[in-house]
Amino acid sequence: MESKYMATTRGENGGGATSVKFSIKRKHEAMASSPIMEKKIHLTAATTQQVRQTIAPVLLTSKRATIEQHQKSLPVFNCRQRILKELELNDTVLIMSETGSGKTTQIPQFLLHAGYAKNGMIGITQPRRVAAITVARRVAQELAGGIGDTVGYTVRFEDVTSKRTKIRFLTDGVLLRESIKDRLLLKYSAIILDEAHERTVNADLLFGIVKEAQKERRRQKLGSLKVVVTSATMDIDHFGKYFNCRGMYLEGRTYPVRVMHAKEKQEDYVHSVLVTLFHIHRTTPRNHDVLIFLTGQEEIEALAHQIRQLAKVDLAGSTDLRVYTLYAQLSQAKQLECFAPTPANIRKVILATNIAETSITIPGIRCVIDCGFVKEKSFNSADGLDVLKSVRISQAQAWQRTGRAGRDSAGTCYRAYTKEEMESFPEATQPEILRTNPTAMVLQLLALDIDCNNFDFLDAPSEEGLRSAYKSLDALGAIKIGSVSHITPLGRQMVQYPLDPKYSKLLLTASTFGCMEEILSLVSVLSSDHVFISNSDKNEMASLAHAKFQSKHGDHLTLLNVFNAFLKTEKPKVWCHDNYLNLRSLTYARNVRRQLTEISTGMDLALNSSDDIEMLKKCILNGFFENIAVLQRDGFYVTVSGNIRAKIHPSSVLHGKYKPNYIIFTEIVQTEQTFLRQVSEISIEWIKEIVPFVKNIPTR
Ligand code: CDP
Ligand code: MG
Repeated sequence: MESKYMATTRGENGGGATSVKFSIKRKHEAMASSPIMEKKIHLTAATTQQVRQTIAPVLLTSKRATIEQHQKSLPVFNCRQRILKELELNDTVLIMSETGSGKTTQIPQFLLHAGYAKNGMIGITQPRRVAAITVARRVAQELAGGIGDTVGYTVRFEDVTSKRTKIRFLTDGVLLRESIKDRLLLKYSAIILDEAHERTVNADLLFGIVKEAQKERRRQKLGSLKVVVTSATMDIDHFGKYFNCRGMYLEGRTYPVRVMHAKEKQEDYVHSVLVTLFHIHRTTPRNHDVLIFLTGQEEIEALAHQIRQLAKVDLAGSTDLRVYTLYAQLSQAKQLECFAPTPANIRKVILATNIAETSITIPGIRCVIDCGFVKEKSFNSADGLDVLKSVRISQAQAWQRTGRAGRDSAGTCYRAYTKEEMESFPEATQPEILRTNPTAMVLQLLALDIDCNNFDFLDAPSEEGLRSAYKSLDALGAIKIGSVSHITPLGRQMVQYPLDPKYSKLLLTASTFGCMEEILSLVSVLSSDHVFISNSDKNEMASLAHAKFQSKHGDHLTLLNVFNAFLKTEKPKVWCHDNYLNLRSLTYARNVRRQLTEISTGMDLALNSSDDIEMLKKCILNGFFENIAVLQRDGFYVTVSGNIRAKIHPSSVLHGKYKPNYIIFTEIVQTEQTFLRQVSEISIEWIKEIVPFVKNIPTR
């Protein structure tokens, strides 16, 4: 039965899969624009073996010799002199090379040993927390020091650095926030902007900010700021023009990857992925580890559960399969699990989001299964709302995912989409700045006294989007629009929080509503995803356990009930388990709360508390007035901004027979249908009382 599925999942038509020499295609793309070329590094079978043998022990011990051997085996090692020379002659260098060639872990060490840390720190930005943390730990290990000593990291809500720290990994968001206080980035002698191809909004802003800081430091003779922009795939021409500098392309070591396409369009890619996995499991040696690309936490956890169940009952004896998951919301310890080697007779299967695309390298992967989708935030400037949805990956992403199978030997990539489908994928991923709500960005720039209209963007967001962002910030009271727009004192306070402006506003006004403690908790728990656990096996028991937290007022109060109970419990682990709640998410929320409280007390906000539910909901409305929705006769809701038709998400406590006339929501999710998540009931009178400026309320 399963072989039938196989045929639909993968393209073996014509008796042959297309064999694509991965490195050649990519090299070709890069060479077209790269002025400098490094010699190709060929690895023979013997050296591959050596590399494999060296990497694993490095993770366990930290013997100097093994580490040096490992470092020397990395492609970037041979280019060390070249990179340092380029950087000596120029302020900015672009470096492009395959994932796993040593950019992130080695270049900071090159700079350290070349003496760059004498006049300031070496900062390396990462688009993701996970990457910043794992890589910092790795480099600390290579330098034989503890984390937080010579090597440290700073991510949102966590700082592991000390006075002695010379190499500092940080998320691009953190560096951006630092630049608000220190426009010239004087703490740093060098900044490595890593994973530039990811093009997060924060990274895009940093490009402009470091460029400006370089210029200003030169002008004021404050010591140069060296900038290295690195990436696995990057439009070197575009970046080169922007930074007015040259690019280096370092040939990595990659092996051919056989590419298998689905024969026909797949209705259910999760199912295709599952079938393909078990086909691989039956037909390939156990040491061929599998990396599966999926879109997000829920999908990953559900499939992981399914695979584990199936592996248990498979009479062919498939228990020799170990499943790991990897996504941003996972705790650090869990994220690190998939890096540990498994015994040779046990196959490692990793279910990951696009985290595993470039920023993280897991050794031993021989097969990749690519579902062809990615969860992306996108924004519609007409309604001003960010929508999280699954979209097709770009062709560049598809190749990047494919490449993960050819890291330490030849491999295979199974694509759950047809060749024709792939041709219709966009060529490259659109930079985030062109597809998300620019509100937070506009405010952040205004805090730096930069008007978006004068900022040197690598790619500028649409004028329409910017206009709506200015309008929205004006409505929040964060800025004053005029011939020269400027940030208000409230706006300045808002940027102190590492949050979306709406959430910051909520916190800043909470004490005037008398419910600061409650809002601190609410914002914290909202910034952590998936508090409730439900899996198909135990759904009923989970619902029963969750019922006692339910509030008829809506999801915000329900979440608050959960979080308050969590904060009180003495045995959080057992308690979460018994109540089908996510210990990880709640612990994360508790940490966030601590940080937000610190920032709030730093601004002298009164930490008052109230059990007046109406007041609390009014306070939420005050921050989220753009997220009001009104019930229609046909049971749908229509949002105030943008007139989007949507339903209440099935996970909401307000999903069901009773439909309130007016609601406030915190998130819009779009799958096949559009849903409003985290919903609370409000009344039309409150709208008139609290946010009278909200007009165009849809009629019922
Ligand atoms: O940044 P790039 O993708 O070029 O490579 P990297 O992250 O510096 O990793 C270089 C090599 O170090 C990888 O190929 C892995 O073998 C190893 N590494 C590791 O074993 N554990 C880590 N946490 C990071 C890197
Ligand atoms: Mg890297």
